[in-house]
Amino acid sequence: MARILVTGGAGYIGAHTVYFLLRAGHEVIVVDNLCRGHRRYVDPARLRVLDIRETRPLAKLLRQEAIDAVIHFAAYAYVGESMEKPEIYFDNNVAGTVSLLNAMTETGVRYLVFSSSAAVYGVPREVPIPEDNPVAPVNPYGESKAMVERMLTWMDRCRGLRSISLRYFNACGVEPGSGLGEEHDPETHLIPLVLRAARTGEPVTIFGDDYATPDGTCIRDYVHVSDLATAHLAALDWLLQGGPSEVFNVGTGKGHSVMEVVRTAETVVGKQVPYQIGPRRLGDPPVLVASPEKIQRTLNWRPVYTRLEDMIRTAWEFEKTRS
Ligand SMILES: NC(=O)c1ccc[n+]([C@@H]2O[C@H](COP(=O)([O-])OP(=O)(O)OC[C@H]3O[C@@H](n4cnc5c(N)ncnc54)[C@H](O)[C@@H]3O)[C@@H](O)[C@H]2O)c1
Repeated sequence: MARILVTGGAGYIGAHTVYFLLRAGHEVIVVDNLCRGHRRYVDPARLRVLDIRETRPLAKLLRQEAIDAVIHFAAYAYVGESMEKPEIYFDNNVAGTVSLLNAMTETGVRYLVFSSSAAVYGVPREVPIPEDNPVAPVNPYGESKAMVERMLTWMDRCRGLRSISLRYFNACGVEPGSGLGEEHDPETHLIPLVLRAARTGEPVTIFGDDYATPDGTCIRDYVHVSDLATAHLAALDWLLQGGPSEVFNVGTGKGHSVMEVVRTAETVVGKQVPYQIGPRRLGDPPVLVASPEKIQRTLNWRPVYTRLEDMIRTAWEFEKTRS
């Protein structure tokens, strides 16, 4: 049992991870400014409405709550928005993390699990992507994650702060019975958009069908949010047991095309998904699939959800409650 501070714990992946941390018997405090999160995802007794850029109150909280480790989700996470307003990504994602690191250094909290992203790879050199693929982001969002990863390397060398950066691929699904959901506003993730199209009849746009892939649509590695949550628990245990700083991909290692997601959703929902083909999005690589070999070997992490259909079914159970 450890005392964990979770930044961004009112968001989609953060709230799921809190749910699994509590089930594993950890004590949890959530820091979230609710700019993009949901108050109802967090037990009011655990929630501290606070911006991570406010170093002083953050340090006070770390000290008062005798925190052992931090899991850091709080960030902006829209690629398109980051191209339009790069400065807010560097401010929130990078300067926000500097503020958190200052608070941790001041209070002697030595362990951090960080939400990184497959976006750090940009257009990868090889697929499945190993962790030693060059880090070469193609948008400010990916750059903000890469910058934090580099800061963490130096914080380890100079300050002995140990960290795990988890480079997630495409998070999806909802933990059944958790009362949580995937509710980004605006929603940009494919599975909720496809399911919303099925529910409302409003077509979803597929960005490009002329890629060099078998059906012409982009291929991504979908990883269930509950499996992402257990990856955080494994990373936390690794650090608390004295393991060194590491970077891991978190994906299943299997790729699915956009059209496959549409067809599988149709099977799950039992009706057609209306869609239209739009132009390609700038900087969308044709294929992004993780090599999950390192996290499997090192942390002994395995995804429970390996079938796309099962992942989509959990998302549909949530989507149905929204009508
Ligand atoms: N969803 C994905 O597929 C995916 C993939 C790769 C990486 N990630 C990363 O995982 C993390 C969580 O993603 P998500 O989909 O749950 O996003 P989300 O927007 O649902 O959650 C982010 C949370 O952080 C909070 N927040 C943002 N800035 C804050 C600040 N300055 N102070 C306090 N709280 C703040 C928001 O209110 C929100 O609750 C992010 O860091 C994101 O970049 C997500």
